[in-house]
Amino acid sequence: MTDLLEVFKTRASVRKFKHEPLREGDLEKILFAARRAPTDATAQMYSLLRVTDTSLRQKIAQLAGGQEHIEAAAEFFLILADVHRLRRLVEHKGAVWGHWPRTAAHFAITDAVLAGSALATMAEWLGYGICWIGGVLNNIREIGDLCKLPKGVFPVAGLCVGVPEERPKPRPRLARELVVHENHYREPSSDELAAALVDMAPITRSGNWHALLARYFAEGGTMEQREGPYQAFAARQGFDPDIEPDAAGDAAAGSLGSLIQKTLEGGFRGVQFGPGHVWIEKETAAYRGEGPPGKALQSALLSWKAENKA
Ligand SMILES: Cc1cc2nc3c(=O)[nH]c(=O)nc-3n(C[C@H](O)[C@H](O)[C@H](O)COP(=O)(O)O)c2cc1C
Repeated sequence: MTDLLEVFKTRASVRKFKHEPLREGDLEKILFAARRAPTDATAQMYSLLRVTDTSLRQKIAQLAGGQEHIEAAAEFFLILADVHRLRRLVEHKGAVWGHWPRTAAHFAITDAVLAGSALATMAEWLGYGICWIGGVLNNIREIGDLCKLPKGVFPVAGLCVGVPEERPKPRPRLARELVVHENHYREPSSDELAAALVDMAPITRSGNWHALLARYFAEGGTMEQREGPYQAFAARQGFDPDIEPDAAGDAAAGSLGSLIQKTLEGGFRGVQFGPGHVWIEKETAAYRGEGPPGKALQSALLSWKAENKA
């Protein structure tokens, strides 16, 4: 039996898998570990979506950026933040669901990551390779639609588990002093930052970790590209405090700010909020929407659309 410390010392994400299933009984063990993870307020605000349909797996692999390991792994899960089932439980005996969209996202992501992490650690302890897949955010709406995710549910990441065809060397991490703080937050010095870039260099093929960070996180990078569709999908699924989920698909905006911007870009002269309502003006007409700001603006836009369709 492998020591857990040894698992952490030697583990590395695996991206080449043998086309073999998990050994008998192991699927149950990794799912058991996931379900035993701690959970906020007893609620278990997560779901695991096991993708067994080969053509669905292929589509997800393409939508996640053409990642072949998603197809090759014995198992692939979508790790889902999920308050849908919780809402059904709360409403089951007549209680009214509260309005806490941001907090829901916070704790549902936490629960999902804890369950996924327990699953992944159990799998690695059993000798399997794993790879988390953030690439599912590249086309989050399409993947959500393919998997028929109801309101209250969104993918946090994918997770491949399978029999490894490679055993990569453990990859570097930042120094302990940079990530472990004591009593108060300590700013890293400029020398420490320079040393961190050197320490982490071997994690990339090019030996230039900074270039990788810039590609993901700097202006125009992958994360900025994901932000708009992510906001819009999160709003559609009910995780934005200002946007009404039912109209969000139509408005396709992920925040009140982006909805105002879209309205102005759509040729409206002005957006005038008053208590409990908004007016938007275009040419010689004005359209009114009622309710809190996001809802009001969404309904004003819908009245404009309805009038201009007719
Ligand atoms: C949330 C998350 C998303 C990730 N997304 C991807 C991905 O889309 N594709 C991939 O090949 N690896 C992905 N990874 C794996 C990381 O690249 C990997 O964990 C990191 O480079 C450190 O390497 P190691 O796990 O081998 O130590 C992801 C990891 C996490 C935690």
